[in-house]
Amino acid sequence: GVPAPRRIGGATALAGVIGWPVAHSRSPLMHNFWLAQYGIDGAYVPLPVRPGAFETAVRGLQAAGFRGTNVTIPHKEAAFRIVDRLDRSARRSGSVNTLVFASDGMIEGFSTDGEGFVANVQAHGIAVKDGRALLLGAGGAARAIAASLLDRGVAVVLANRTPARAEELARALREDAAPAVEVVAWDDMATVLSRCDMLVNTTSLGMEGGPPGDFPLDLAAADPALVVCDIVYVPRQTPLLRDAAAHGLRCVDGLGMLIHQARLGFCKWFGTDPVIGPEVEALLDADLRG
Ligand code: ATR
Repeated sequence: GVPAPRRIGGATALAGVIGWPVAHSRSPLMHNFWLAQYGIDGAYVPLPVRPGAFETAVRGLQAAGFRGTNVTIPHKEAAFRIVDRLDRSARRSGSVNTLVFASDGMIEGFSTDGEGFVANVQAHGIAVKDGRALLLGAGGAARAIAASLLDRGVAVVLANRTPARAEELARALREDAAPAVEVVAWDDMATVLSRCDMLVNTTSLGMEGGPPGDFPLDLAAADPALVVCDIVYVPRQTPLLRDAAAHGLRCVDGLGMLIHQARLGFCKWFGTDPVIGPEVEALLDADLRG
């Protein structure tokens, strides 16, 4: 027979992800998994919105009663501009990836990337408190992660292929009352490694289809307590993480950050904080393998 339809009614809580393109987004998979897992009357849909149509779409979704949305490429800057209230996370990271349509009619903007990163590291049983991190890259992810690390008292050393971008990021972070930011030349990153407790790759090095070549850092001289994190999650086991594991270092891969940044949005729209289990990870893993 015909299967029973999924019930979507007037009380169904709606959220989604605005992007262009958005078909590749794994967010619908995660959110609809948690909605089903917790028996929540809700739905999360991909929302393909062309560049230039972002604000029209957001106002429309708000008027149509959506709880909020995620925002991805190319709309993160537009999201930063149109929100009525910027959460501290968004202000510090200079971007917005999560919108909440508040009950007073205001649009609130959050950035869950940095907090998602920290939550994932903590979920690996690693304390994020004090110490020093060597952060590779100077893009949007680097800024969000640096801001969240600095908030927890972790000093940050930035290294980026294009030094001007690292300097610019350092300036932005320091403006926000974070003096514990240093910049090291890309070619000198190995010299600071022994002073660091954590190494975080936010560049596209190691990404499937990304730049070719070996990772430009030899981990042989690393302190055995160094924690190595990669935000790249395709492949999950990046060359950097493989090298780190070969040296007996603790590793944190990027998939958990993806899950935890989604979790933080889910809490805001659907009022439940999903427990992150192996099921959602396996689901994503299978999906990423195609
Ligand atoms: P995000 O996705 O975090 O917003 P982005 O702005 O696209 O990132 O930046 C990607 C990062 O990967 C940058 O730090 C970039 O370095 P540059 O600022 O010098 O461009 C880095 N990156 C990309 N390809 C690289 C390569 N072949 N070697 C070193 N770094 C590279």
